[in-house]
Amino acid sequence: MTVYGNFPGSRPRRLRTTPTMRRMVAETRLDAANLILPAFVREGIDAPVAISTMPGVQQHTLDTLRKAAVEAVSAGVSGIMLFGVPTDEKKDGRGTAGTDPDGILQAGLRAVRAEVGDDLVIMSDLCLDEYTDHGHCGVLTEDGRVDNDATLERYAEMAQVQADAGAHVVGPSGMMDGQVGVIRDALDQTGHEDVSILAYTVKYASAFYGPFREAVGSSLRGDRRTYQQDPANARESMRELALDLAEGADMVMVKPAGPYLDILAKVADAVDVPVAAYQISGEYAMIEAAAEKGWIDRDAAIMESLTGLRRAGAQMILTYWATEAAQRLRRSQA
Ligand code: PBG
Repeated sequence: MTVYGNFPGSRPRRLRTTPTMRRMVAETRLDAANLILPAFVREGIDAPVAISTMPGVQQHTLDTLRKAAVEAVSAGVSGIMLFGVPTDEKKDGRGTAGTDPDGILQAGLRAVRAEVGDDLVIMSDLCLDEYTDHGHCGVLTEDGRVDNDATLERYAEMAQVQADAGAHVVGPSGMMDGQVGVIRDALDQTGHEDVSILAYTVKYASAFYGPFREAVGSSLRGDRRTYQQDPANARESMRELALDLAEGADMVMVKPAGPYLDILAKVADAVDVPVAAYQISGEYAMIEAAAEKGWIDRDAAIMESLTGLRRAGAQMILTYWATEAAQRLRRSQA
């Protein structure tokens, strides 16, 4: 018996015979323009600091951040997403450094904007966790819970200072209810009608954020399960999506990416705004660690992981490999 016996003309392998044939029939293409580089800028250092759990990624000084931005532009990367890492003394209960016009994230935004102008879409993570001494994404009530509405007031201020500092896009990542609407109002009322919102719409309470906590020197003890989503839930993501769109999100994001491809595909099917996926620190670390042990073909695994996200419906991908992957794509197209 031959498996194709009942369908004599049907031999899918014919379309896999040569590299040019495979290239021609490829349904998904990954392009440098799909890629966004997340980058960390740290206050009070005069040389970049390596992040041990994310080999190849570093906390930048303002100077090396500028260089990384220029490199990303040359590689054809579309955007950069900035995270600020203040000194420990600057952290407090309200995350004051996050709204200080001279805070490290704002300094980073100004430096990148001065260096590359509009050649990159400059984005800022809009969240308090890097700036609070307790490490939560919002301010706390007296009994230690994250206070949704008091946090929204802080986010409104953050949106304004980040836009003032030159962000083209703000990325609220704290998972407070109503955050997109409040930020849209704050931007509109301060003359930043053209600044757009990339909402971290779907964000799960994930073990894969582990390496990021080192990257931003997080002070968090405990977890974020009262505001980030339960990995068991899918329908809830559609509810978050409806709310963010109604509140004015210009683009929506799913995070983490790889373990949530089903959610990414559903979101991409449901909306007519651009959809992003964030390939997070743990996804990065797993491939780097396996490659270091010689257990996996690093470069092929990176490109496959990115192609999978495109296939599932991501228009944009935030990945710590953005510049490297863009360079590789350029070379393979040359
Ligand atoms: C919150 C934020 C986090 C990440 C991006 N924004 C951490 C968290 O929610 O705990 C994680 C990114 C990564 O793991 O690469 N400001």
